[in-house]
Amino acid sequence: MDIQQFKYGADNLGYLVYSENCAIAIDPGAPDKMAKFASEKNISIEIVTNTHTHADHTQGNNALVKRTNARFIDCTTFSHGQVLDLKDATGLEVISTPGHTMDSLCFKGDRFVVTGDTLFNATVGNCFSGDLESFFKSLKQLMALPGDTLVYAGHDYVLDSLKYAKIIEPDNPDLNWYADAYNPDHVVSRLSDELKVNPYLRFDTSSMIERLKDKNLPRETQFQRFSSVMEVF
Ligand SMILES: [Fe+2]
Repeated sequence: MDIQQFKYGADNLGYLVYSENCAIAIDPGAPDKMAKFASEKNISIEIVTNTHTHADHTQGNNALVKRTNARFIDCTTFSHGQVLDLKDATGLEVISTPGHTMDSLCFKGDRFVVTGDTLFNATVGNCFSGDLESFFKSLKQLMALPGDTLVYAGHDYVLDSLKYAKIIEPDNPDLNWYADAYNPDHVVSRLSDELKVNPYLRFDTSSMIERLKDKNLPRETQFQRFSSVMEVF
């Protein structure tokens, strides 16, 4: 199983997850580039779907379906744990991750996860649903994946997020090499590295707890610490 990233719009990222013969398109905002890539590799795109129903993620659905024989699957019809078949490879597992929107999903491959607007490289999505507890649980699910899991997000917000992370944790040395490793042509990070730099996943670290203490913010439970980080920073 392999994955190819496609940049479109100002900072959106879409993906083809593919095996030897077939592919699943996720957030296909670059339908022409995706179709070209697939035809050059002689792969047939079988499924077109989305991480959630925000328009910047769904805008390429019709165009890609028209150009290929792919079947569109409305992401709101998926259930947690469902596996999307890739025929000649291990399937892609649907993880329900409500929070950014209530219909937000992530797709777990054999060594990567496509995270949409739930988890970005160096930041997290906005909790537009207002259900912060669900968002917290969703992020905890992702944080529990193996550390070497590659995080493929729905936008490239890396540079702005790192500037902000530096304001929140100015003494975090890991922000420097993470910034050096940034490649705008292939935006990805390891989950274990997110735990080192992404302030919104660092609610249990002594440095973040110290920051919350300085600001006299609720920090007793893990969820309180997460909420405080989300609300203040
Ligand atoms: Fe979104």
